[in-house]
Amino acid sequence: MNVHYDYTGRVVIVTGAARGVGRAMVRQFHGAGARVLAADRDAEGLAETCAGLGDDVVATEGDVSSQAGAADIVSSSMEHFGRLDVCVNNAAVAPHAALLDERVDVWDTVYGVNCRGTFLMTQAAAGVFVEQGEGGRIVNFSSGVSKRGSAGASAYASSRAATESFTRVAAIEFAPHGILVNCVSPGLIDTQPKPLPPSMKAGLERRIPTLPLARPGEPEEVGQLVMWLASDASSYVTGAVYAVDGGSGVGVRPSGDIVDEDIRYDWVTGRTRA
Ligand SMILES: NC(=O)c1ccc[n+]([C@@H]2O[C@H](COP(=O)([O-])OP(=O)(O)OC[C@H]3O[C@@H](n4cnc5c(N)ncnc54)[C@H](O)[C@@H]3O)[C@@H](O)[C@H]2O)c1
Repeated sequence: MNVHYDYTGRVVIVTGAARGVGRAMVRQFHGAGARVLAADRDAEGLAETCAGLGDDVVATEGDVSSQAGAADIVSSSMEHFGRLDVCVNNAAVAPHAALLDERVDVWDTVYGVNCRGTFLMTQAAAGVFVEQGEGGRIVNFSSGVSKRGSAGASAYASSRAATESFTRVAAIEFAPHGILVNCVSPGLIDTQPKPLPPSMKAGLERRIPTLPLARPGEPEEVGQLVMWLASDASSYVTGAVYAVDGGSGVGVRPSGDIVDEDIRYDWVTGRTRA
C-alpha cells in the first residue's frame, strides 16, 4: 500500500542526501510536491540524487559538522525557496572499530557529524522557524544500536543515543514556538555499499534471518515515517523516538514452533501428561 502525502508549498531540507536513506527521502518529498534542499558533503552523490528532479530540488554541498556549513545549508534554502518548513537531520557516519583500537580523531569526527551536526542544523533551522513564526518540523536520526551493545560501535552507538536525548531537550525548548522535534531510529536498512565487502556479507547473512521480519528495511520505509513526522498528521507528536526496524529492537524471529514443555504450569493450562 502506498501512502500519499501532500507537501505542496512546503520547503524541506534533507541532509546526508547523496546516498542511502537521504537520497530516498529527497525523492519522496519531491514526489509529494515539496521543494527540497538536498545537502551533503559528497557533491558527486548529490548530483546523482538530484538528476532529473528539476528546479524544485536544489543540491547544496556542505558539511553539517561545521557552524559555517550548517548555516550555509539553511541559508541556501532561504535563498532558493524563501522559506523553510522541515529539517531532516539524516547525515551521519558510522565507522566501526574495536574499543581498544578506537582512535580519538575518528571518535571526534563521529561525534562531530552525528551530534554537533544535528545540534548545528537544529539550531540554524529553528532560528528560521522562530523568525517565520509559523512553527516547523525537525526530524533527527538515531539507530537501534543506541539501545543495545554492539561490538565495534562504541562511538556510533553512543553518538546516536545522544541525538535521542538532544531531541527531547529541543522538543521541550521549541514547543512554545510550535516547532515539533522528533527522532527516528532505524534498524537494518539496505543502504550498504554494493557489492558487499566480504565481512559485511557474512555478518548480514547471519543477522538477517534473526530479524523478526527476516529482511532489511528499504530506505523508503524510513522515509515514510519521516514524512509522517513532518506532516500535519503528527501534529500532537513531539520529543518522541520512533523505531523503524522491522521489530529488531524488541526481539528475534522465532526459530521454530513455540512449545511449552514446562510442567510447572500444567495446573494453569489444564494440560495432562501421559
Ligand atoms: N542504514 C542503516 O542500516 C541504518 C541503521 C540505523 C540508523 N541509520 C541512520 O540512518 C541515517 C541514514 O543512514 P544511511 O545508511 O543512509 O547512511 P549513509 O552512510 O549511506 O549516508 C550518509 C550520508 O551522509 C553524508 N554525510 C556524512 N557526513 C556528512 C557531513 N559532515 N556533512 C554532510 N553530509 C554528510 C554522507 O556523505 C552520506 O551521503 C543515518 O543517520 C544513520 O545513522 C541507518
